[in-house]
Amino acid sequence: MARTKAKLALSPTDLKYYLYERAVQCPEWHVKHFPRFYLWMTKKKAKSLREDFCGTSRISMEWVRSAKDRTALGLDLDPEPIGYYERFHRSELKADEQTRLRHELKNVLEPTREKFDLIAACNFSFFIFKERETLLKYFKAARMSLKPGGALFLEMAGGEGMQESMEEKRMFTAPGIGRVKYVWEQDDFDALQAINDYAIHFQLPNKRWIKNAFEYHWRLWGIREIRELLAEAGFSKSHVFWEDSDRQGNGTGEYVPMEEGDPSHAWIAYVAGIR
Ligand SMILES: C[S@@+](CC[C@H](N)C(=O)[O-])C[C@H]1O[C@@H](n2cnc3c(N)ncnc32)[C@H](O)[C@@H]1O
Repeated sequence: MARTKAKLALSPTDLKYYLYERAVQCPEWHVKHFPRFYLWMTKKKAKSLREDFCGTSRISMEWVRSAKDRTALGLDLDPEPIGYYERFHRSELKADEQTRLRHELKNVLEPTREKFDLIAACNFSFFIFKERETLLKYFKAARMSLKPGGALFLEMAGGEGMQESMEEKRMFTAPGIGRVKYVWEQDDFDALQAINDYAIHFQLPNKRWIKNAFEYHWRLWGIREIRELLAEAGFSKSHVFWEDSDRQGNGTGEYVPMEEGDPSHAWIAYVAGIR
Protein backbone atom coordinates (compact mmCIF):
# COMPACT_ATOMS: atom_id res chain seq x y z
CA MET A 1 0.00 0.00 0.00
CA ALA A 2 1.38 3.41 -0.97
CA ARG A 3 2.00 5.56 2.08
CA THR A 4 1.16 9.28 2.13
CA LYS A 5 4.53 11.03 2.06
CA ALA A 6 4.88 14.01 4.33
CA LYS A 7 5.47 17.03 2.10
CA LEU A 8 6.35 19.14 5.09
CA ALA A 9 9.74 18.45 6.68
CA LEU A 10 9.65 19.50 10.33
CA SER A 11 11.90 18.63 13.25
CA PRO A 12 10.20 16.41 15.87
CA THR A 13 9.80 19.44 18.16
CA ASP A 14 8.31 21.67 15.47
CA LEU A 15 6.02 18.87 14.32
CA LYS A 16 4.37 18.54 17.73
CA TYR A 17 3.53 22.27 17.83
CA TYR A 18 2.32 22.17 14.21
CA LEU A 19 -0.05 19.30 15.04
CA TYR A 20 -1.15 20.79 18.39
CA GLU A 21 -2.23 24.06 16.77
CA ARG A 22 -4.34 22.22 14.21
CA ALA A 23 -5.85 19.62 16.54
CA VAL A 24 -6.54 21.73 19.61
CA GLN A 25 -6.61 25.46 19.07
CA CYS A 26 -9.26 27.79 17.71
CA PRO A 27 -7.77 31.26 18.38
CA GLU A 28 -10.39 32.97 16.20
CA TRP A 29 -13.01 31.99 18.79
CA HIS A 30 -11.18 33.73 21.63
CA VAL A 31 -10.47 36.85 19.59
CA LYS A 32 -14.12 37.10 18.58
CA HIS A 33 -15.68 36.49 22.00
CA PHE A 34 -13.33 37.91 24.66
CA PRO A 35 -13.76 41.52 23.42
CA ARG A 36 -17.55 40.94 23.27
CA PHE A 37 -17.58 39.74 26.88
CA TYR A 38 -15.30 42.62 27.84
CA LEU A 39 -17.57 45.19 26.16
CA TRP A 40 -20.58 43.71 27.96
CA MET A 41 -18.81 43.85 31.35
CA THR A 42 -17.06 47.21 31.10
CA LYS A 43 -18.69 49.07 28.15
CA LYS A 44 -15.14 49.54 26.84
CA LYS A 45 -13.28 48.32 23.78
CA ALA A 46 -10.30 46.09 24.44
CA LYS A 47 -7.12 47.06 22.64
CA SER A 48 -4.21 45.56 24.53
CA LEU A 49 -3.95 41.83 25.27
CA ARG A 50 -1.51 39.88 27.39
CA GLU A 51 -1.65 36.20 26.44
CA ASP A 52 -0.44 34.21 29.44
CA PHE A 53 0.99 30.69 28.91
CA CYS A 54 1.10 31.80 25.26
CA GLY A 55 2.90 28.79 23.78
CA THR A 56 3.20 29.51 20.05
CA SER A 57 1.09 32.69 20.48
CA ARG A 58 -1.80 31.82 18.19
CA ILE A 59 -4.28 34.00 20.10
CA SER A 60 -1.92 37.00 20.06
CA MET A 61 -1.42 36.55 16.33
CA GLU A 62 -5.15 36.64 15.64
CA TRP A 63 -5.51 39.57 18.02
CA VAL A 64 -3.05 41.85 16.19
CA ARG A 65 -4.53 40.76 12.84
CA SER A 66 -8.07 41.61 13.96
CA ALA A 67 -7.61 45.43 14.25
CA LYS A 68 -4.88 47.96 13.53
CA ASP A 69 -4.99 49.43 17.03
CA ARG A 70 -4.66 46.10 18.86
CA THR A 71 -1.41 45.09 20.54
CA ALA A 72 -0.39 41.84 22.22
CA LEU A 73 2.28 40.57 24.57
CA GLY A 74 2.81 36.81 24.88
CA LEU A 75 4.26 35.42 28.11
CA ASP A 76 5.73 31.95 28.42
CA LEU A 77 8.48 30.42 30.53
CA ASP A 78 9.66 28.15 27.75
CA PRO A 79 11.70 29.45 24.80
CA GLU A 80 10.72 26.41 22.69
CA PRO A 81 7.17 27.44 21.62
CA ILE A 82 8.23 31.07 21.27
CA GLY A 83 11.05 29.85 19.00
CA TYR A 84 8.36 28.10 16.94
CA TYR A 85 6.51 31.42 16.62
CA GLU A 86 9.74 33.12 15.49
CA ARG A 87 10.53 30.44 12.90
CA PHE A 88 7.08 29.81 11.46
CA HIS A 89 4.55 32.46 12.42
CA ARG A 90 6.32 35.81 12.52
CA SER A 91 6.70 35.89 8.72
CA GLU A 92 2.96 35.11 8.31
CA LEU A 93 2.17 38.50 9.87
CA LYS A 94 2.37 41.81 8.03
CA ALA A 95 5.19 44.15 9.11
CA ASP A 96 2.95 46.36 11.26
CA GLU A 97 1.33 43.29 12.87
CA GLN A 98 4.77 41.96 13.75
CA THR A 99 5.62 45.18 15.59
CA ARG A 100 2.34 45.02 17.54
CA LEU A 101 3.10 41.50 18.88
CA ARG A 102 5.91 41.10 21.37
CA HIS A 103 7.03 38.34 23.74
CA GLU A 104 8.60 38.06 27.14
CA LEU A 105 10.13 34.86 28.43
CA LYS A 106 8.62 35.28 31.82
CA ASN A 107 6.87 33.54 34.69
CA VAL A 108 3.24 34.70 34.89
CA LEU A 109 3.58 34.72 38.68
CA GLU A 110 5.48 38.02 38.31
CA PRO A 111 3.60 41.16 37.20
CA THR A 112 4.54 42.97 33.99
CA ARG A 113 5.37 46.66 34.17
CA GLU A 114 3.10 47.28 31.17
CA LYS A 115 -0.64 47.24 31.89
CA PHE A 116 -3.34 45.64 29.71
CA ASP A 117 -7.07 45.77 28.97
CA LEU A 118 -7.24 41.98 28.82
CA ILE A 119 -5.16 39.14 30.16
CA ALA A 120 -6.13 35.71 28.81
CA ALA A 121 -5.09 32.36 30.27
CA CYS A 122 -6.45 29.74 27.87
CA ASN A 123 -6.62 26.00 27.57
CA PHE A 124 -6.85 25.52 31.34
CA SER A 125 -3.15 26.42 31.63
CA PHE A 126 -3.47 27.93 35.11
CA PHE A 127 -4.50 24.46 36.40
CA ILE A 128 -0.72 23.94 36.57
CA PHE A 129 -0.87 25.88 39.85
CA LYS A 130 -1.96 23.34 42.42
CA GLU A 131 -1.58 25.28 45.64
CA ARG A 132 -4.06 27.97 46.67
CA GLU A 133 -1.19 30.27 47.70
CA THR A 134 0.43 30.00 44.25
CA LEU A 135 -2.81 30.62 42.40
CA LEU A 136 -3.51 33.63 44.61
CA LYS A 137 -0.04 34.94 43.74
CA TYR A 138 -0.87 34.56 40.03
CA PHE A 139 -4.18 36.38 40.38
CA LYS A 140 -2.56 39.23 42.34
CA ALA A 141 0.23 39.55 39.77
CA ALA A 142 -2.30 39.51 36.90
CA ARG A 143 -4.45 42.13 38.63
CA MET A 144 -1.41 44.40 39.06
CA SER A 145 -0.77 44.04 35.32
CA LEU A 146 -4.25 45.19 34.30
CA LYS A 147 -5.35 48.73 33.53
CA PRO A 148 -8.14 50.03 35.80
CA GLY A 149 -11.27 48.23 34.61
CA GLY A 150 -9.17 45.60 32.80
CA ALA A 151 -10.16 41.92 32.89
CA LEU A 152 -8.45 38.59 33.46
CA PHE A 153 -10.09 35.80 31.42
CA LEU A 154 -9.64 32.24 32.61
CA GLU A 155 -10.60 29.34 30.37
CA MET A 156 -11.65 26.48 32.64
CA ALA A 157 -12.85 22.91 32.21
CA GLY A 158 -14.47 20.49 34.62
CA GLY A 159 -17.18 17.97 35.33
CA GLU A 160 -17.02 14.21 35.73
CA GLY A 161 -15.92 13.96 32.12
CA MET A 162 -12.57 15.54 33.09
CA GLN A 163 -12.15 13.10 35.97
CA GLU A 164 -12.70 9.71 34.38
CA SER A 165 -9.99 7.52 32.99
CA MET A 166 -10.52 7.55 29.22
CA GLU A 167 -9.18 8.18 25.74
CA GLU A 168 -10.82 10.44 23.18
CA LYS A 169 -9.73 9.84 19.58
CA ARG A 170 -10.42 11.80 16.43
CA MET A 171 -8.89 12.32 13.02
CA PHE A 172 -7.91 15.69 11.58
CA THR A 173 -6.14 16.89 8.46
CA ALA A 174 -2.77 18.54 8.89
CA PRO A 175 -1.82 20.25 5.59
CA GLY A 176 1.45 18.87 4.24
CA ILE A 177 1.23 15.86 6.57
CA GLY A 178 -2.12 14.18 5.87
CA ARG A 179 -4.73 12.59 8.10
CA VAL A 180 -3.49 12.47 11.68
CA LYS A 181 -5.04 10.75 14.69
CA TYR A 182 -5.34 12.90 17.81
CA VAL A 183 -5.65 11.13 21.16
CA TRP A 184 -6.54 12.86 24.42
CA GLU A 185 -5.77 10.55 27.33
CA GLN A 186 -7.01 11.02 30.89
CA ASP A 187 -5.78 9.12 33.90
CA ASP A 188 -7.63 8.28 37.11
CA PHE A 189 -8.60 11.38 39.07
CA ASP A 190 -7.19 11.74 42.56
CA ALA A 191 -10.36 12.70 44.41
CA LEU A 192 -8.53 13.90 47.52
CA GLN A 193 -5.93 16.03 45.79
CA ALA A 194 -8.27 17.07 42.92
CA ILE A 195 -5.36 16.36 40.57
CA ASN A 196 -5.27 14.39 37.33
CA ASP A 197 -2.78 13.53 34.58
CA TYR A 198 -3.54 14.16 30.93
CA ALA A 199 -1.60 13.55 27.72
CA ILE A 200 -1.88 14.27 24.00
CA HIS A 201 -0.63 11.66 21.51
CA PHE A 202 -0.59 11.85 17.72
CA GLN A 203 -0.43 9.09 15.13
CA LEU A 204 0.97 10.14 11.74
CA PRO A 205 -0.30 8.84 8.38
CA ASN A 206 2.67 6.40 8.28
CA LYS A 207 1.30 4.95 11.57
CA ARG A 208 4.23 6.27 13.58
CA TRP A 209 3.17 7.45 17.03
CA ILE A 210 4.24 10.64 18.77
CA LYS A 211 3.40 9.51 22.28
CA ASN A 212 3.08 12.05 25.08
CA ALA A 213 3.64 14.97 22.71
CA PHE A 214 2.21 17.09 25.55
CA GLU A 215 1.64 16.05 29.14
CA TYR A 216 -0.31 17.90 31.81
CA HIS A 217 -0.52 17.46 35.55
CA TRP A 218 -3.47 19.63 36.55
CA ARG A 219 -5.50 20.52 39.58
CA LEU A 220 -9.17 20.72 38.63
CA TRP A 221 -10.24 23.96 40.26
CA GLY A 222 -13.95 24.70 40.69
CA ILE A 223 -15.56 27.91 39.45
CA ARG A 224 -16.75 28.98 42.87
CA GLU A 225 -13.34 28.66 44.51
CA ILE A 226 -11.79 30.55 41.57
CA ARG A 227 -14.23 33.44 42.04
CA GLU A 228 -13.47 33.49 45.77
CA LEU A 229 -9.74 33.61 45.03
CA LEU A 230 -10.23 36.41 42.49
CA ALA A 231 -12.06 38.43 45.14
CA GLU A 232 -9.29 37.69 47.64
CA ALA A 233 -6.72 38.89 45.10
CA GLY A 234 -8.56 42.23 44.93
CA PHE A 235 -10.67 41.87 41.78
CA SER A 236 -13.75 44.07 42.20
CA LYS A 237 -16.11 41.70 40.41
CA SER A 238 -16.15 38.41 38.54
CA HIS A 239 -18.45 37.00 35.87
CA VAL A 240 -18.96 33.49 34.56
CA PHE A 241 -19.70 32.82 30.90
CA TRP A 242 -21.37 29.42 30.80
CA GLU A 243 -22.57 27.51 27.73
CA ASP A 244 -26.23 28.16 26.97
CA SER A 245 -28.46 25.16 26.32
CA ASP A 246 -31.49 24.58 24.12
CA ARG A 247 -34.87 23.20 25.27
CA GLN A 248 -33.54 19.64 25.11
CA GLY A 249 -30.67 20.63 27.38
CA ASN A 250 -28.02 20.39 24.66
CA GLY A 251 -25.19 22.94 24.57
CA THR A 252 -25.63 25.59 21.88
CA GLY A 253 -21.98 26.66 21.69
CA GLU A 254 -23.01 30.16 22.84
CA TYR A 255 -21.53 31.39 26.12
CA VAL A 256 -23.63 33.76 28.21
CA PRO A 257 -23.20 35.38 31.62
CA MET A 258 -24.83 33.18 34.29
CA GLU A 259 -24.90 32.93 38.06
CA GLU A 260 -26.40 29.42 38.21
CA GLY A 261 -25.53 26.55 35.90
CA ASP A 262 -27.04 23.18 35.02
CA PRO A 263 -24.72 20.25 35.64
CA SER A 264 -22.80 19.02 32.65
CA HIS A 265 -20.78 15.82 32.23
CA ALA A 266 -17.87 17.83 30.88
CA TRP A 267 -17.89 21.58 30.62
CA ILE A 268 -15.76 24.47 29.42
CA ALA A 269 -16.43 27.89 30.92
CA TYR A 270 -14.88 31.35 31.03
CA VAL A 271 -14.40 33.17 34.29
CA ALA A 272 -13.53 36.86 34.07
CA GLY A 273 -12.21 38.95 36.95
CA ILE A 274 -12.50 42.74 36.66
CA ARG A 275 -9.70 44.77 38.24
C1 LIG B 1 -1.10 24.15 27.68
S1 LIG B 1 0.22 25.16 27.03
C2 LIG B 1 -0.79 26.46 26.42
C3 LIG B 1 -0.63 26.68 24.96
C4 LIG B 1 -1.59 27.70 24.37
N1 LIG B 1 -1.59 28.96 25.11
C5 LIG B 1 -3.00 27.19 24.27
O1 LIG B 1 -3.93 27.91 24.65
O2 LIG B 1 -3.23 26.09 23.78
C6 LIG B 1 0.92 25.80 28.51
C7 LIG B 1 2.12 26.75 28.33
O3 LIG B 1 2.31 27.40 29.57
C8 LIG B 1 3.70 27.60 29.78
N2 LIG B 1 3.89 27.81 31.24
C9 LIG B 1 3.75 26.91 32.24
N3 LIG B 1 3.95 27.50 33.43
C10 LIG B 1 4.18 28.82 33.19
C11 LIG B 1 4.44 29.95 34.02
N4 LIG B 1 4.48 29.84 35.35
N5 LIG B 1 4.65 31.16 33.42
C12 LIG B 1 4.62 31.27 32.08
N6 LIG B 1 4.37 30.23 31.24
C13 LIG B 1 4.16 29.02 31.78
C14 LIG B 1 4.34 26.33 29.21
O4 LIG B 1 5.68 26.55 28.86
C15 LIG B 1 3.43 26.07 28.00
O5 LIG B 1 3.97 26.64 26.82
